[in-house]
Amino acid sequence: MKQETNIDWNNLGFNYIKTDFRYISTWKNGAWDEGHLTEDNMLSISEASTALHYGQQCFEGLKAYRTKNGSIQLFRPNENSKRINNSLKKLLMPEIPEEKFINACIDVVKANERFVPPYGTGATLYLRPFVIGVGHNIGVKPAPEYLFGIFCVPVGAYFKEGLKPVNFMISDYDRAAPRGTGSAKVGGNYAASMQAHEIALKRGFADCIYLDPATNTKIEEVGAANFFGITKNDEFITPLSPSILPSITKYSLMHIAKEYLGLKVSEGDVYIDNLDIFKEAGACGTAAVITPIGGIEYKNTLHVFYSETEVGPITKKLYDTLVGIQFGDVKAPEGWIYKVK
Ligand code: PLP
Ligand code: COI
Repeated sequence: MKQETNIDWNNLGFNYIKTDFRYISTWKNGAWDEGHLTEDNMLSISEASTALHYGQQCFEGLKAYRTKNGSIQLFRPNENSKRINNSLKKLLMPEIPEEKFINACIDVVKANERFVPPYGTGATLYLRPFVIGVGHNIGVKPAPEYLFGIFCVPVGAYFKEGLKPVNFMISDYDRAAPRGTGSAKVGGNYAASMQAHEIALKRGFADCIYLDPATNTKIEEVGAANFFGITKNDEFITPLSPSILPSITKYSLMHIAKEYLGLKVSEGDVYIDNLDIFKEAGACGTAAVITPIGGIEYKNTLHVFYSETEVGPITKKLYDTLVGIQFGDVKAPEGWIYKVK
């Protein structure tokens, strides 16, 4: 077992670092093999793999957390298992049994324990499960073989300001169609978002926000995170749409807002012309955790919510409760925490 890393846990961003072991399993002739851990972080696949040409691939993102007493835990990996199976079904790829998915996550974390950041640094071990269509194939049809892999990377904040508010701009582009793949975690949605993301960065924003592709009047997603707002009468509202990714963090926050903070909660339309109803707003996701939204630029005007520099009090409470549950400091709802060790 290798010891110690020279990682500066307090200054981690969201960048690739080669960790010790990753999991890989192959689907061939109608079944997944047992899978194994390997030190090799390179894949060798057919040049004609469907993942390379036709985007037949999907992925997940979840984190392992070090608690105060040194144990390690996963947050709702069963939800990631359900979601990857939805993505797999959508692209005609073979599903993965929940037990196989969760055990592989646990094995990867255990094998890379020295990369699980210490409690108190705010950093976590990000797990990236993925499935790709491989094998020799040239027509547009499902691949003859698949690879299911999971690697992990220690990470800090995705948006570099952490719990400081950041500004977003409304994109002129759509990331997914109303009857397309927006609710699946497939690479094509992310490829479709890169140009708008780059424009936002160049203009000094943290990312862009997408409006609904059918009418361009309602907020859909915040880059690689979901949107939520807190209304002036203390209601937690988040968009409901067939083309956004159903965020596990968002559904967790809806539960926390209702059961821990006593707020009214709803999913519905969030009209871009009606942002005045909100006193606070945020972006939420596994990587983003909760990132307060300072302001949103739309038609050359910046709409500021609570403040461009300070996190609002309700957003802060949501953050403290969510992160408290994830790191084991706040009692979690039944079934949310999976112990690794
Ligand atoms: N929306 C998109 C497009 C994402 O990539 C993510 C990240 O996974 C989310 C929302 C947030 O989802 P979750 O909270 O399950 O990580
Ligand atoms: C996640 O939060 O897990 C994501 O998928 C974001 C990622 C695309 C950077």
